[in-house]
This record gives sequence, structure tokens and C-alpha cells, in this order.
Amino acid sequence: MSVERCKVEDLDPQEAAGELERLARLIAHHDRLYHQLDAPELDDGEYDALRRRNDAIEERFPDLVRPDSPAFRIGAAPVEAFGKVTHSVPMLSLDNAMNAGDVEEFLARIRRFLNMPVDMPVDIAAEPKIDGLSCALRYEDGFLVRGATRGDGTTGEDITANVRTIFDIPQRLTGEAPSLLEVRGEIFMRHDDFRVLNRRREDEGESVFANPRNAAAGSVRQLDSRVTASRRLRFFAYGWGEADPAIDGKYSDFLTLLERIGFRVNPLRHVCSSAQELVDYHGEIGVQRHALGYDIDGVVLKVDDIALQRRLGFVGRAPRWAIAHKFPAERAQTRVHEICIQVGRTGALTPVAELEPVTVGGVVVARATLHNQDYIEEKDIRVGDLVAIQRAGDVIPQVVEVLLDQRPDDAMAFAFPDHCPECGSLAIRPEGEAVRRCTGGLVCPAQLIERLRHFVSREAFDIEGLGRKQVPQLVDAGLVREPADIFRLVRDPDKLAQLEALDGWAARKVQKLVKALNERRHIGLDRVIYGLGIRFVGETNARLLARHYGSLDGWRSAMLRVAAGDGEAHAELADIDGIGPRIVEALREFFVEERNIAVLDALTGELDVEAVTVGGGGETPFSGKTVVFTGSLGTMSRAEAKARAETLGAKVAGSVSKKTDYVIIGAEAGSKAKKAAELGVAVLSEAEWLEMAGAT
Ligand code: IVH
Repeated sequence: MSVERCKVEDLDPQEAAGELERLARLIAHHDRLYHQLDAPELDDGEYDALRRRNDAIEERFPDLVRPDSPAFRIGAAPVEAFGKVTHSVPMLSLDNAMNAGDVEEFLARIRRFLNMPVDMPVDIAAEPKIDGLSCALRYEDGFLVRGATRGDGTTGEDITANVRTIFDIPQRLTGEAPSLLEVRGEIFMRHDDFRVLNRRREDEGESVFANPRNAAAGSVRQLDSRVTASRRLRFFAYGWGEADPAIDGKYSDFLTLLERIGFRVNPLRHVCSSAQELVDYHGEIGVQRHALGYDIDGVVLKVDDIALQRRLGFVGRAPRWAIAHKFPAERAQTRVHEICIQVGRTGALTPVAELEPVTVGGVVVARATLHNQDYIEEKDIRVGDLVAIQRAGDVIPQVVEVLLDQRPDDAMAFAFPDHCPECGSLAIRPEGEAVRRCTGGLVCPAQLIERLRHFVSREAFDIEGLGRKQVPQLVDAGLVREPADIFRLVRDPDKLAQLEALDGWAARKVQKLVKALNERRHIGLDRVIYGLGIRFVGETNARLLARHYGSLDGWRSAMLRVAAGDGEAHAELADIDGIGPRIVEALREFFVEERNIAVLDALTGELDVEAVTVGGGGETPFSGKTVVFTGSLGTMSRAEAKARAETLGAKVAGSVSKKTDYVIIGAEAGSKAKKAAELGVAVLSEAEWLEMAGAT
């Protein structure tokens, strides 16, 4: 396949339209191979080249952007609020069956209603009940035109921009599909993606989601669809609303059709023809449940014959032709042996319940998080209590309830410590915060170990042979007290000999570590910033800082000025798009502490920190300039304009100051344009910006 076709500059509008159509199909095809079938045919470079070509043509011919443009997959500019959508066919819910008797009654009722003999078989399509949120996708002439949430079943919210970012959802149907088709199904998040998301949020000081369902719902209900795009959501199709021509025949065949036209349909679906088969199916799926990688809370049983479905109709808000056969909740009861306090990297004291081991949903559980002081007090959890625990998705189990009638007489309320159990320093809880923190800093061995673990983690220094497990070993042996010590080991034969003698180490392993360390001395500024483990400074923020300040010296001196109370330096930092007040404050606090500066300097003395070259070299009219966009641009989204300016070497700021070099003014620009005039900052129209950016 040739990607290098006719040059974008040489295309006339008609050719461009044809090319955009070809690219939309081709990219959708390769997206499906990659995301749904796990069988990519292109390498990353070839795939990116297709996307770039599409972007370049769209940039040149903004009027030709297609409804199924691959560019929608990355999200669009935020909206103020979701629009309302009225479901022309209401989105219903399901009645529940809790046991085999309920399933038999479901079948008996169907036969009664249809006047069928009691022993006449009825085909029932059975499939897993996905624990996510349901969604309706409207396709007109094969093109996705709208996505909506269920809402109250009658009115939902318009989440079109958000669903366009989900790769399981085709933007254009392939093959023969009804000219109007509203596909319904479930948006959900897989366990592995959920874990990655929560880990990232934890790193960035954000609250974590309690389970994958909440994470999926939170990700879909984002006014900024670029956030949705950054969360890996999935979709299983299982139904329809409006359709023209009408859907007929068998439901199981309809699912096959959905698959053919580009959807993912649950592979565990199965048609059964007796109550016994349905109960067996429920049992089998129940066994497989924990290995699926996503949450299900039961199986759904549906009459397979669509004509019969129509005859059966609805009672209240639930169909007579379907039922949910639920799994029992994954709860268990056990005793609290002890409540321990864990000290994290930033000194947070987290209470953890040590439990009598018990099996919950196929996993042995011996500990449960108690979150914080308030949680323990609210639920009145005491050592010795019998508690109900629950595993929500794949997360750490939670204590949901104390069985008060079984409380032993001597159970004492838990006194949350006001000193760190690891180092004895005072632990304080600032007003309005839920978390109590140790004030010991690096004096505290627990904080020290957690910080070093963070430092060597994959996203930070990623040192081969030195992981979570080895860090406490090195600290306990007195070999390492701060990040720089890790690199100093290389020059200290005595310490290397000591290391060799430790459990699990040997000469070869030490040699390998020395090699890995020397390789790691050359490292990007973003990894250094992230590796320091400053509160709220996760990978994304570290990258923003590295890009903005460009070099270690640039960043360090700016941060020292912020710590010294320099208003301009503070404003510059606060003005970086994406850097909020909490992060500014955390950076200030870090740099106010001399000990932290010493740790940083000792570390960077061992390193060769790569400066960030924005725009991949080459001078542009925007190299090193600070620009501000205001008003709406006609030819590109704000996100694209910003990305483009950054590629050209500019820093993009959110507000106009003396330091601004250019203000780029789109339609309906407001106070920023005025401020630019007041300060005498150069102003560019959209056309001038495009010309200087080399886009016209
Ligand atoms: S069929 C009228 N099939 O369960 C038929 N629903 O409790 C309604 N759900 O709102 C839906 N997996 O969000 C159907 N395979 C599946 C499902 C499923 C999950 C959800 C759906 C619905 C809820 C009803």
C-alpha cells in the first residue's frame, strides 16, 4: 500500500474529498484490526503516516471534514453542557431472576402469555450482563450521527463527541446495514485499563475510582471529550432502538449482523432451549467470570424470535421477553484482626484492616483498605469486629458494613495515631483534608522507601534490576539514602561488594546494575521531574513543565524564584496550560525546602539531563515565543492550534502579560485582545497566524 500518494499541496478539492474518504475507510479498517481483532497489519510509523496525511488534508480543506473523520477519535473542544436527547424507542431496564426457580417462572410466563403448550421449547439467547453503562448510537446511512446515554430511559444526554473517541464504536458501518439503525449496548472499562488509570490518578494526586463501572461512567460524562479519549473505553453491542427497515428474524442473527457491520459482540453468547440449559449457562459463565478481564453481574436471557418479542411486549419499564439472571454479590464476612497504618511516599497515613483470610469472588483476601480516619469513624470499625467485605471490580476490597450485633464486648474504638508509626514524627491533618500526613520527610524510612520506589519506577528512572523489591534491601543495608546514592554506588567498590553479598544478588547481577545505571545517566528532563515524586506532579505535569522550561537549569532557577516569592515567576508557572494552583503550591513547597534542593542537585550532579528541544530543531517565527490564543479559530480547534504552536517551538499561555509575544485573535475575541492592545503586544489575525505557521 502506498501512503505517499499525491502531495497534499497539489490536491484539488475533488481529489481531496476522495482522498479523505479513502483515508477514513482505511484508517477505520486498521483501527478494527488493531483494537478489535488484535491483528494489526501496519507498524506504528505507517499508521501514523495515514493519520498525519488525513490531518494535513483536513487542515487544508476544513470544509471537507467528514462525519466519520478519524480525527474525531482524539476528542474535540470541551462543551458547556450536554444536550438532551429524547429516545424515540424508550431504553428499558430488566427484571431480575435470582435463582433457577425464577428462570423457570420466566419461561412459564412466556408460554402462558403466548398460549403455548407447557412443554414446547422456546429458544432463548443468553449472554453476559456487562456492568457498565448503556448507550444508544444512531446511524443514518451508515454514518454515526449521535450517541446518547440512557438517562431516565426516556431522555438521555448527548455524548456524541465522547462516543466518537471509543475505538469499539465504528463511525461508519461496513457492509449492508439498515439505512436507519440505532444500536444499543454497554460502554465499560476493562480491569487492566482501570488499573492503569487509577495508578496514573494516584500519581497525579487525583482521587481514584472505586470500580471500573464508576470509571467508565466518569469517563463518558466528560464535557471535554479529549479526556474520554485518554481513557480506554470499550463497547459491546446487544440491541437496537429505532430501525428502518425493521429488524426481523432471530435476535442471535441480529448479533451476527452487528458483528459484520463493525461492532464487537460478546463472544460468550449462546442460544439455549430449556430452563436447565439456561441454568447451566449461568453456572458456566459464573465460573469464567473472574477470568474475563471485565465486570459482569449476571447473564441476560432474551427470547430469540423477534416476532415473539414483539408479541410479548412490556410490563411497566421491563420487557416480558427478557430477564437478568444475576450473580450473587461478591461479599464475604470475616473478622478484623488488627488495624495498621501504612505510610506512603508523600507521608499519607492510610489505615488498613488486617483480616482473617477469606475467599471473595475467587480471590483470597487478607487485607482491606479503610481509606482514612473519617471512614473508620463513620462505619465505627473496630479491631475484633465481624465485617462484611466486598470486592468492587478488581480493586482492593472494601469493608462495607460492621455486623454490630456480633461485636465482642472488649472491641475498642480505633484511636488514629497523631504520630507516624514508622519514624515517630508528628502527623498532622490540615483542616478540610481527609488525610493525616507524617511531617518527617526523608527522615521517615517509610517515606524514604516509597520515594525511592517511585524514583526507580518504570515511568521515572526505570532502572533495570532495581525495582520495588530491591529498594528496601538497599535502604536497610545502609547503601542508599537518597536518589543520588543509587548512581554513586557505581564508584564505590566497597558498597558494590556489600551489595553483592545481599540476598538474591551476585556478581553478575551487580555488574548488570552498574551497566544499567550508567546507561540511565543520560535521561530526559521530564523523567527527572517526575522521579522527584513531588505531590501532584505526575507524568503529564512533569512533561508540561519540561516542555515549558526546556532545560534543567531553566526549570530549577524558575522554581527557586517561585519559592522566593517572585511574582513574575509564579505567574509564568501558573499560566502554563494544565498546571493548576495545587501543582503550583506543591512545587513551591518542594523548593522552599533546602533539603529537597540538595537532593535534586546531588542527583543531577550524577546525570546528564537532556534538554527538551521543542519542534525538533530548526528555527521558526515562533521559536521560544510565548503565544496566547483567544476567540474561536475558523480553521482549526483550539487544541490543534495549541499543538501546532508547540511544534513550532512556542510556549502557549492562557493569559496575556508583558511576557506574551503574540496574541492570536479568532472570532469573538474578548478581554484578552483588549489587554494585548493595552500592553502593546503584537496581535495576529487567524490568517496571519496560518501564514506564519506555514499552513497556507
Ligand atoms: S438488554 C430491554 N443486554 O443492564 C432490554 N442489557 O438492567 C434492555 N446490560 O440498562 C437491555 N448487559 O445497561 C441488555 N447483554 C445485555 C446487557 C444489558 C448489560 C444492562 C443495560 C440495561 C441494564 C438493565
